[in-house]
Amino acid sequence: MPIVRHFDDTASIELDEMIAFIEDNAVDPRNEDDMLAAAPLLKRLGNNRSFIADMALKELKARNNLDAIDHNYTPQTIMLTPANKRWFMRCNFWPSASDHIFRSSGAKAFFYFEPHDHNFNFLTVGYKGPGYKSDYYEYDYDDVLGYPGEAVPLRFVESSALEEGKVMLYRAFRDVHDQRPGDAMSMSINIMENSLRGNFMDQYGFDTKTMTVSGILNRIGATALLPILAVAGEDDGNTLDFLTETARGHVSGRVRTVALNALAGVQPDALGAIAVHQGGLTNDDPQVRGFCRERLARLEALVA
Ligand SMILES: [Fe+2]
Repeated sequence: MPIVRHFDDTASIELDEMIAFIEDNAVDPRNEDDMLAAAPLLKRLGNNRSFIADMALKELKARNNLDAIDHNYTPQTIMLTPANKRWFMRCNFWPSASDHIFRSSGAKAFFYFEPHDHNFNFLTVGYKGPGYKSDYYEYDYDDVLGYPGEAVPLRFVESSALEEGKVMLYRAFRDVHDQRPGDAMSMSINIMENSLRGNFMDQYGFDTKTMTVSGILNRIGATALLPILAVAGEDDGNTLDFLTETARGHVSGRVRTVALNALAGVQPDALGAIAVHQGGLTNDDPQVRGFCRERLARLEALVA
């Protein structure tokens, strides 16, 4: 369960005061105590009723940032600071089930009903509205290998909403939530960890009915390039050697599985793909072995 802080403070601050606090105190967002030290100020920023609308209006009038592509977020998000330091700030919108944007875009666009952990810490405050709702669970990242179908003993903690003024610290690799729409359009403001572990370590999706890993949610650049390389690489042995070696010994088990899958994808038939995954059963990374077992079960069913 994220760490919850309640404050009765009604004073408010501007965004630049929040930023100054983070910088002056060298807040390390990977450190939970550092993040919690920022909680009282985030509550005060949340008390500022006008700064988000002021920022949005200024940006819309300037018309110079509406097609920005320097972050990974959807229109659900307004970036409050650039993501060029070890932290950044954003504001998120959370539509209710009766809002038009929810009905037109669907639940998936807002991460609703997609139970997941986070591979970064973030501190959040409910800014407006009754807040999105969540079923909260906890788990131990170190106990998970990270292949689809793997059993994970998620521990249910509670169901609650991120109502206005409530501050929560979501802890990386520990807190899992299954979000669903709140009773009305809501907004939250976040201080986000922006570190390498957010890129390189796995963020999992879970199936809370079967208590299993449903997939890995975050992107790694190499995982997009390896399948392209397998298809488009020169047929001179170099490409296959590189993919084979990546699948055997890359430091990331996840990158190994993608390399294996890329190799399997360019085999002439299903039996060839099965052979590639059978080779992965002897990999020294258990995540790779688990992935291959899952793939083999599906492929072998196809050719049976
Ligand atoms: Fe989340």
